[in-house]
Amino acid sequence: MDRTTTNSSRVGDSSLSLRLSTLHHQYQNETSIWDIGCDHGLLGLSFLNHEHVKAVHLVDPSDLVIKTLKDKFKATYISSPKLFIHHQPGQAVKLDPNSNCIFIAGMGGKEIGEIIQNLIPQLTSNDRLVISPHRKILELRVLLHSMNLDLLHEEVLKEDGQYYQIMVLAKSEKSGLIPLYGEKLWTSETGREYRIHQLKHFDLHQDVASRQYISFLKSLNS
Ligand SMILES: C[S@@+](CC[C@H](N)C(=O)[O-])C[C@H]1O[C@@H](n2cnc3c(N)ncnc32)[C@H](O)[C@@H]1O
Repeated sequence: MDRTTTNSSRVGDSSLSLRLSTLHHQYQNETSIWDIGCDHGLLGLSFLNHEHVKAVHLVDPSDLVIKTLKDKFKATYISSPKLFIHHQPGQAVKLDPNSNCIFIAGMGGKEIGEIIQNLIPQLTSNDRLVISPHRKILELRVLLHSMNLDLLHEEVLKEDGQYYQIMVLAKSEKSGLIPLYGEKLWTSETGREYRIHQLKHFDLHQDVASRQYISFLKSLNS
């Protein structure tokens, strides 16, 4: 799917931005939602009234984020037996035994990699990870490639002049299934723009990993 916008548009009548709405739409009837690194909590809260969802877990280690969320819930009378707030890092999450849709967005690849390392032994075939790293994506992809994970979907979108990769992952019996640089990512119109953007950005870098990435990008048919 090709998703592009040039300003902070809202999608449909939802209060979610294009990026958060695109993440939301990766949901597939799991019973528990995890919004890890929730900050404003908008993504997790967008599932509160969903009929299949039994639990919404908002996770963040920041004192300020948790205080702001609790104050907001008090002021707006948001309360639900489904809502759970966890004042902790994603590296300490213990999943529910039911099916989990786990969102990890807006953090660097290093943190996301550590959070996934904690989750891997807990994952079952009923769980899916929906991730959107904002930095150190190449490094994260190398780690994901080494893990027992499968790539169910990937896309890139553009919002407010920034590109965002989204990956949907599931537990697998073997490793090596996540392509190092992505495959379907590059086929959409936004993907083709993203390739040009990445070529310009990484051409400034001389390290081996960046040069290999540049060779890959150049090998793609544009
Ligand atoms: C830029 S915000 C992203 C908010 C939201 N997920 C989004 O994509 O719009 C990053 C959030 O991640 C939180 N964070 C940083 N390190 C974390 C960790 N190890 N585990 C969970 N959350 C973390 C920060 O406190 C912050 O609230």
